Amino acid sequence: MHTLSRFASATLLSTLFIGPALAQTARRAPAPVRDQLPPAAAPVVARHALVVSAHPLASQVGRDIMQQGGNAYDAAVAVQFALAVVHPSAGNIGGGGFLVYRGKGGAVGALDFRETAPAKASRDMYLDKQGNVVPNLSTSGVLSVGTPGTVAGMVELHKKFGKLPWAKLVEPAVKLAREGVVLTQKEAAGLNGTQFIQRIGLLGTHPVAPGRGTSERWQGKFGSLPISYQKPKGEWQAGDTIRQRDLAATLSLIRDQGRAGFYQGDVAELLLREIREGRGLITQADLDAYQPKWRTPLKGQYRGYEVITMPPPSSGGVALLQILQMLEPHDLAKLGYHTPASVALITEAERRAYADRATYLGDPDFGKVPVAQLLTATYNKQRASTIPADGRATPSAQVTAGPGLPGYESPQTTHYDVVDAEGNAVSCTTTLNGAYGSKVIVAGAGFLLNNEMDDFSAKPGVPNSYGLVGGTANAIAPGKRMLSSMTPTILTKGGKLVLVTGSPGGSTIITSVLQSILNVVDYGGNAQQAVAAPRLHHQWLPDQLDVEAGALTPTAEQTLKDKGFNPRPRAGWGRLDAIRVLPGGQLEGGADPRGDDAAVGY
Ligand code: DON
Repeated sequence: MHTLSRFASATLLSTLFIGPALAQTARRAPAPVRDQLPPAAAPVVARHALVVSAHPLASQVGRDIMQQGGNAYDAAVAVQFALAVVHPSAGNIGGGGFLVYRGKGGAVGALDFRETAPAKASRDMYLDKQGNVVPNLSTSGVLSVGTPGTVAGMVELHKKFGKLPWAKLVEPAVKLAREGVVLTQKEAAGLNGTQFIQRIGLLGTHPVAPGRGTSERWQGKFGSLPISYQKPKGEWQAGDTIRQRDLAATLSLIRDQGRAGFYQGDVAELLLREIREGRGLITQADLDAYQPKWRTPLKGQYRGYEVITMPPPSSGGVALLQILQMLEPHDLAKLGYHTPASVALITEAERRAYADRATYLGDPDFGKVPVAQLLTATYNKQRASTIPADGRATPSAQVTAGPGLPGYESPQTTHYDVVDAEGNAVSCTTTLNGAYGSKVIVAGAGFLLNNEMDDFSAKPGVPNSYGLVGGTANAIAPGKRMLSSMTPTILTKGGKLVLVTGSPGGSTIITSVLQSILNVVDYGGNAQQAVAAPRLHHQWLPDQLDVEAGALTPTAEQTLKDKGFNPRPRAGWGRLDAIRVLPGGQLEGGADPRGDDAAVGY
């Protein structure tokens, strides 16, 4: 039987939210912490296998693949390509990502299909003659594009673990692109709110008749409107059907030729033409040189759970494990859910880990990242020793990266989880960086290119679009991977799979993933509560505590203000998706109500 997630509405959530203060003001003993977590819609429960992703159609594709005999890795490939069609703001073939897996026998691994800087990229490429960062250069247009890694990554994943033929995994995406997808309200709003760039169409160098192809050369072969996502007249509405014929053609080539279908031939030619038109840097040599990499995941312990997470070039795993180490000596459940005391503690741990991130983290293939040192117990004990015991804030200006470590020498995104009937688990976060990436659509090929170059530090100390600062460790260099916050994570206990989790959200990814873990491990929540609960975020700089509506009671917020924190309201961020394995082996899906996310299983 198929199970579709129920979407929890924000209104329902806020109506039902009973803040911690209510629980505390009662004379009786405080409610068990489990009951302090905001209620959420009932999680989807599946007996055999489950997919949670940003779109119901993508989740269904993954479920279908597993019902046809595919494993979790097959399903992940199919979901990745389906998301590129149904969730184009983040699902992609023109971007990259990270994947952490745990096989049914307990073997773990990580696949890095992060984009790389083109060979012609250079450290100061986004600075003007005065040495100032040129606005927008690293965030939109072809100069912001890193060499895409997604297709090579998926081919690699399939080569190592795939059970079903490759073509069978790409075909559902071809079909969705060709036959059309009914837009949700959120997808329609996203498309309407974006100014897409398609130079060839816009410059008019190739005469275009609507519906007749994007250039003389490609006309008839790919044939579609010049701006793939622009409605010819008026605005997109929920319920409209969007057909992406260029993308269907591109995906067919990937289906039939694998890696070569994207990095060589027609699609590569169209991609490079788009890059050339905008005076971008990527060349055929960059496409040929792109290699995904298998990496050894980081492993940490938290309250008896093993946390398996992404190593550099993600900063996420290191920061997550550092924060968990700083929190472990404290009984968070006893401190209460989102009370001033627990929020102060979590925020201070985050502040310190993000300060370390800015200094020490970068691509490990281009310099030494002191990962082992950052994760030693003594180091984090020492980092945590400066957290004030009275719940006060330490101003970020007084917090720098931890001393004494060897220096480094030398955010739209989407997440999905899959667990199959055999117990293989995949946690994958994939991205174009900003919503719709660089906004550049490859004319004739119908897909968007990333703006991942903005994840590099364009200039030491100058914040990127997520307000993150960095230095030498994350400076631009040819072929280098830009530092990421993506944190696909898996938890086990006693050798058994417990939780598969992850989220988009740029710099907020790390703290969102952290909160999903705390919501389950410390606060006893189910998968849906873990992803739905209102969130908090602090990233060292800027020195502010982001507060989602409903995350703090007014009293708690005031107390935190009095203690020197700087709470700022911020509209909901991140799209956490999680799968929790119940003691009886059933799978419980948590799909973030902030998006169209859906859990689908059987
Ligand atoms: O890799 C990173 O950390 C960013 N490019 C992620 C961007 C992101 O999550 C945007 N999503 N909302």
